[in-house]
Amino acid sequence: MISESILQGEKVRLRPVEENDLPHFVGWLADREVTRWLAAMGDPPTLDDEYEWYERRRSDPDSVMWSIETVEGRLAGNVELRLSAQPRRAEIGIAIHDKTLWGQGLGTDAVRLVLAYAFEELELNRVELTTDEANERAIRCYEKCGFVREGLLRQHRFIDGQFGNTLMMSVLREEWAKSQPRAAVRRAV
Ligand SMILES: CC(C)(COP(=O)(O)OP(=O)(O)OC[C@H]1O[C@@H](n2cnc3c(N)ncnc32)[C@H](O)[C@@H]1OP(=O)(O)O)[C@@H](O)C(=O)NCCC(=O)NCCS
Repeated sequence: MISESILQGEKVRLRPVEENDLPHFVGWLADREVTRWLAAMGDPPTLDDEYEWYERRRSDPDSVMWSIETVEGRLAGNVELRLSAQPRRAEIGIAIHDKTLWGQGLGTDAVRLVLAYAFEELELNRVELTTDEANERAIRCYEKCGFVREGLLRQHRFIDGQFGNTLMMSVLREEWAKSQPRAAVRRAV
């Protein structure tokens, strides 16, 4: 489902994904420097692929998805919470597609907002993710948000002709409640 909530942080605003976003995603997802970190990515998507993806997500009750934009309103990427069949558990997936915006704290702000939403609005108990062990920027971002390293799936990915390890990380409700500054979640819709 495309979230109807707008979450306002210090550096980003999370808002519903719009059809107008899709051509931007297609352009960015043609860049291997961006997609090499995205486990689910095969060939670069076409605009038709993105429409199909958008429609699938809209009708999927187990997926909550937002577009990420800067506070100035510049589209930056998207973030998704995928609810598990297990009670009160979800996986987060994020991509700042516009690589000129990497390393400016947008990812950290977006993940904190989604965690606040997950634990406070949805009352989840655990949020997890997997990432490429070599994705140091992402790992640092997740650790800043309270995720801890849980385990390593060895030679789990095949990227650019090589096997690579996948890191499993999670944050539990009790840890998050103790450690994180409360993100400013404002419901505008
Ligand atoms: C991963 C991603 C969401 C992080 O968002 P971001 O806005 O770039 O990250 P932030 O600026 O909030 O935080 C990054 C941190 O990593 C640090 N960092 C950057 N490059 C690094 C590197 N090579 N090694 C270690 N740390 C690094 C930054 O300095 C920053 O830490 P700091 O605030 O302590 O200085 C974003 O870069 C992205 O979408 N990348 C491409 C797709 C991707 O990797 N998605 C995640 C798949 S699991």
